[in-house]
Amino acid sequence: MLTVIKNLKEAINGESNAKRKYELCAEKAREENLSEVAHLFEAISVAETIHIKNHIRALAVLTNAGVKTEDFVEVNEVDLKNHIKDTKSNLIDAISGETYETKKMYKNFVKNSKKEGIEVAELSFSLARRAEKVHAELFTDYLKFLENNKSIEKRKIFVCQICGNVEIEAPPLVCPICEHSQNFFQEY
Ligand SMILES: [Fe+2]
Ligand SMILES: [Fe+2]
Repeated sequence: MLTVIKNLKEAINGESNAKRKYELCAEKAREENLSEVAHLFEAISVAETIHIKNHIRALAVLTNAGVKTEDFVEVNEVDLKNHIKDTKSNLIDAISGETYETKKMYKNFVKNSKKEGIEVAELSFSLARRAEKVHAELFTDYLKFLENNKSIEKRKIFVCQICGNVEIEAPPLVCPICEHSQNFFQEY
């Protein structure tokens, strides 16, 4: 089996867990009256859903078959809930997860797809990788706000429906990650 097929499955599993974890982090942030942190977790959770869809599409093309995610995705609700702490810790954990994906996981997966010459996977991995970098930066900004006891005013958050890039306040004319137009950004 191509390494890239294994990598796509691992990425879909990882993103599915991240998506659910961020939903739980958003609930926790709301409990702590940190509604804008909750808002960011929710928007980034949507972005992870876009990565899942892109990877599933790539896997379907490669295997020439429908993808049954239940065969390789395991989201353990109890484990995830046990993992949720206070919002500051959740942000630190999210930054480390996004950084791991950017610097290790997707970096390797992009390399593997280049080696095996699988462009459809290379595209899906590299878009996700660059979006995860933005996610890590945004979580870092919000953590700094909390650490400096600064309140975060209500803001608009836009998610690119093609690549999962996240932009604050206004979408750019062209997505810097996937180069699709502003029309592909949706506000959350
Ligand atoms: Fe992410
Ligand atoms: Fe994009």
